Amino acid sequence: MKTAASATVLVIGSGARIPKFREFLSMDGAREYLEELGEGNYVVKADGFCGGKGVKVAGDHLSSIDEALAYCEECLPHFVLCERLRGEEFSVLSFTDGETLSHMPAVQDHKRAYEGDQGPNTGGMGTYTCEDHLLPFLSQKALDEARAINGACVRALRCELGELYRGILYGGYMLTPKGVMLIEFNARFGDPECINLLALLDHERTDFLTVCEATASGGLARVPVHFQPLASCCKYACPEGYPDTPLKGFEVDLSGLESPEFAFLGAIDRDAAGTLRGTGSRAVGVVALAADLNSAEARAEREVSAVKGSLFHRSDIGKEPLVASRVKRMLELQAAAAADGAPGGRVVRLGVLGSTRGSSLQPVLRALAAGVLRHVTINLVLSNKKDAGILRRAALHGLPHAHVPVNGRSRDAYDAEITQRLEEAGCDAVLCVGWMRILSAPFCMRWRQRALNVHPSLLPAFAGGMDLEVHSAVLAAGVPESGCTVHFIEEAVDGGQIVVQKRCPVLPLDTPESLKARVQPLEGVAFLEAIGIVAAQVRAAACSDPPALS
Ligand code: GLY
Repeated sequence: MKTAASATVLVIGSGARIPKFREFLSMDGAREYLEELGEGNYVVKADGFCGGKGVKVAGDHLSSIDEALAYCEECLPHFVLCERLRGEEFSVLSFTDGETLSHMPAVQDHKRAYEGDQGPNTGGMGTYTCEDHLLPFLSQKALDEARAINGACVRALRCELGELYRGILYGGYMLTPKGVMLIEFNARFGDPECINLLALLDHERTDFLTVCEATASGGLARVPVHFQPLASCCKYACPEGYPDTPLKGFEVDLSGLESPEFAFLGAIDRDAAGTLRGTGSRAVGVVALAADLNSAEARAEREVSAVKGSLFHRSDIGKEPLVASRVKRMLELQAAAAADGAPGGRVVRLGVLGSTRGSSLQPVLRALAAGVLRHVTINLVLSNKKDAGILRRAALHGLPHAHVPVNGRSRDAYDAEITQRLEEAGCDAVLCVGWMRILSAPFCMRWRQRALNVHPSLLPAFAGGMDLEVHSAVLAAGVPESGCTVHFIEEAVDGGQIVVQKRCPVLPLDTPESLKARVQPLEGVAFLEAIGIVAAQVRAAACSDPPALS
């Protein structure tokens, strides 16, 4: 069987974006190519299996072209030099029988040995997936692009090389401001990705053995492959000194684990006395599933901490600060790229007002990070509540934010300060994400057709209430359908022009809470569409504005 690598060239032909690269069998031309890529912009890859430790990146592991050349010498007789990309890596694995692909949820590995993505590269210290099978920085569109590239690879092998590639195709991707870039293919499961993904298989509806048989022999199109709508977090316990000088022969004690069936043994042997002993590489991977990533991470952390021995693990994997820092990095990269080629050279800047957790802001952040709303940035987040979760969310994502206390001021006086702050931040439009204040007439006038609010019902019905009150009113009315409405803000509460509505059914056994859980995910989607509409209006108005007089 040919490996997926043979199809890479054909996939490139099919339009997949890849970094610039060149292969070398000697040192001839290596310095010139590194200089062409530019200081700080190259990656050196050793050929062959290195357990994920063969890649050295400019800036992270290599501080000069001379150091890169010294590493190239170590890698002879074969190495690859390629362009350094900036973005977030993610993995997309697919079962394939050579014709059909069944894709798995997107998953993110953590290659660096130490907290905060520091230290040497490893085989992978841990991985996570999210309940929607996307990642916090990855949109459905970006995931679909990556899946299409996996499909193009399998098709290229079949159509161009006459080979049916049957097995697992592992696509390693990077989301960059230029879009999704293909980094590598592996003709195998990823480790630890596999631990998350197989734990997530929905065994009620999917028989793994049947999937394997169909993958190997054909007929995958007729075999259902379902994954549970849960988040997962996997963490590896590794020997002290791993990966460069790992301890060996130390005792490993698993007796404290709550769910040993979710612990997977790696570099471990049993000695003659029956004691488990580490052999010098990643020792025990534990995985936990839960309704959301926070809970899955907390469980995985408890379990991996219960593995006793001369071991360490990365406690930051799957935790909110690290996950948010990845979204933040993508937001910064997208914002830096936003001005380039923005329609009419115009980046549209949003201000956000919120009094609560701001959950509906998260899909907007994800879309901005994924480049879906290219040329739109969030310039300021304001809250009237000092402890509002939305301010913490803004801080985690590196967004400028402030608490603006009311201090007994009149509505007009308070809103005037909000407008002043938004204007100072250059905001073109405003999103109200759980803003628990009625806005004054002057504010509504100043931001006419430029301020959006989301309401958790299909307006005009059930206007005026907030949160669970609205869902209770919908249930009391016995209507078959609910949803959310994004509307422009006008003086009449929830009375402004409707911009976008999203619908969902009301089910017979619904409670206000269950209905809220169905409506809330629609709010982010509706916001995104509405932002797209307002951004287009802002740009159109900017094009027709008369030039400023000097
Ligand atoms: N987790 C990276 C790999 O398996 O290659």
